[in-house]
Amino acid sequence: MKSVAVCFVCLGNICRSPTAEAIMREQVERASLADHIVIDSAGTGDWHVGEPPDKRAQAAAQRRGYDLAPLRARQIAAEDFDRFDLLLAMDEVNLGNVRALCPPGSESKVRLLMEFAEHWDVREVADPYFGGAEGFELVLDQCENACRGVLEHLRVALGLAAA
Ligand code: 4NP
Repeated sequence: MKSVAVCFVCLGNICRSPTAEAIMREQVERASLADHIVIDSAGTGDWHVGEPPDKRAQAAAQRRGYDLAPLRARQIAAEDFDRFDLLLAMDEVNLGNVRALCPPGSESKVRLLMEFAEHWDVREVADPYFGGAEGFELVLDQCENACRGVLEHLRVALGLAAA
């Protein structure tokens, strides 16, 4: 079977996109598709490169059984448009920033994560960085739902029937 690769993209790669990465990894492992779906995350900014995820994001994720501790922030790079089949931005600003870096021909790979959510009629995963603890819970709620939609999309891309 072929494989597909998805990269979640936010601003700092320390709150939203590492959270989405860990959730996606868990869902993909549960679906026994870890050998066929490559998962990563990146930030459009470079302020936090090399750092582990934000402590608040780690704590909120840990309470739901996701371990963000091994992840390290990196900045999106030109090669990512070759490496990944889907680049999923957390909000409109980051969507614009990713599109600005996107080489001609790869535009259809760049989408908003929340396009894949079933239970949310919003386009963005709000930036929790300058807010309170409830913002991190909302990020988890949104990413858990949207990643299920991403997984169904990738099943189709892999030629598998929807679960
Ligand atoms: P993220 O959150 O994009 O979800 O990782 C942020 C992290 C850092 C900053 C802003 C948002 N910052 O301004 O440093």
